[in-house]
Amino acid sequence: MQTQPSSATLSALLRHESPNVTYLDPDGTWPIVWQKAKGMHVWDESGRRYLDLTAAFGVAACGHAPREVVRAGQQQMGCLMHAMGDVHPHALKGRLLAELSRWTFERWARRDARRGGVQVGKVAKSILCNSGFEAVEASLKTAHLATGRAGVIAFSGAYHGLGYGALTVTHRSHFRRPFQSQLKKFSHFLKYPSDAVAMRQGFDQLERLLKKGGVGAVIVEAIQSRAGLRIPPQGFLLGLQERCHAHGALLILDEIYTGFGRTGLWFACEHESVTPDLICVGKALTGGFPLSACVGHSELMDQAWPRSSGEAMHTSTFLGHPVGCAMALAQLELLKSRDLARASSRQGKCWIQQLSQHYQAMSDRVKVRGRGLMIGLELIDAKGSPDGLQVVEWAKRLLKEGVIVLPSGARGEVLSLSPPLIIGESHIKQATNKLLKTYHQLIKS
Ligand SMILES: Cc1ncc(COP(=O)(O)O)c(C=O)c1O
Repeated sequence: MQTQPSSATLSALLRHESPNVTYLDPDGTWPIVWQKAKGMHVWDESGRRYLDLTAAFGVAACGHAPREVVRAGQQQMGCLMHAMGDVHPHALKGRLLAELSRWTFERWARRDARRGGVQVGKVAKSILCNSGFEAVEASLKTAHLATGRAGVIAFSGAYHGLGYGALTVTHRSHFRRPFQSQLKKFSHFLKYPSDAVAMRQGFDQLERLLKKGGVGAVIVEAIQSRAGLRIPPQGFLLGLQERCHAHGALLILDEIYTGFGRTGLWFACEHESVTPDLICVGKALTGGFPLSACVGHSELMDQAWPRSSGEAMHTSTFLGHPVGCAMALAQLELLKSRDLARASSRQGKCWIQQLSQHYQAMSDRVKVRGRGLMIGLELIDAKGSPDGLQVVEWAKRLLKEGVIVLPSGARGEVLSLSPPLIIGESHIKQATNKLLKTYHQLIKS
């Protein structure tokens, strides 16, 4: 039974928030109420400090509230707090669009030119959005307009957000089933491969579907986050790209989670030198303001979308919000000047190695995997099945120890670690000690 929470905030949520939003553990151990956050840490209402190993869903890539980003947002608020999305723009919108182009297709074109390959458009054009799922929906619309085909191929375990368009390509039935009768069937799910054999079988299926016609896009996460940190075999993205190109379908990469250094390169598709047709970004883009983008190469965007004659076909009230743009420009500058993709690669490699060694020495029940600072510890029960219940218990024990983590995976069987990319060795040491201590408690209980 739900007990009355001791916190006034949680009582208010219990009373006034739709019941399916915030999970309130009946035993009162989850959640904590955040009051302040800075760098690697979060403080709760009682002033207790926590080490954040989530970067708040991967958003706080430069740490919480970096001075430069806060200042940029505050200055912008004092000067222009809102403009008119698709009608009267503001200067920072132009600057951010140019910056997104530089970070993506311009860099990839230079890389391809250096390697003597084909150049795919030197500049990018973007649609700025608010949440990640809106960027996904903008990409689905773009693909439909550009190809004239309605079909979309997505993958098992995929999480692309929960708006009705994005939900159509999000896989888990927990999110889809209640609304299934209202979802239009334009998507087809293939298995997200766990090994090379599954990958080859998936490619065969994909080819059959593409040959049938009617498929305009393949949408994929380079690494699946919410599905439990699933890393596909090397060659998966490249194989998708080749098959999409051969059949005139577009490759949409959802890098809303993996983008901006999380996996040790600026974008996870760069691990295979893949250039998508469209890329969706969000989360870490601003460090804490709801702003996302669907970015495509300019020829494609020009082919898909007619020049506006006064009424945009796709827009929203807060499109290209000035405060979000100011924060994004400051955040991108910080990511670059601190070379946080390299830091993510370096720290991630060491930490994954350390964790693997520790857990291998202790038991065969924890499987460690990851890339950069996107790390997952999968817990297996004595019969060899994923153990979601225990991971939830593990996350609660860590919270009690002052460490914030999140379970992921269909059954919550993976403890996800995606700390701010500024994480230092002392934090890693502290986090490792707490992870080991709470794991000991867990197996003894
Ligand atoms: C890969 C991916 N795509 C899309 C989304 C949806 O983003 P939002 O929650 O901002 O709508 C998420 C959110 O977790 C995500 O991880």
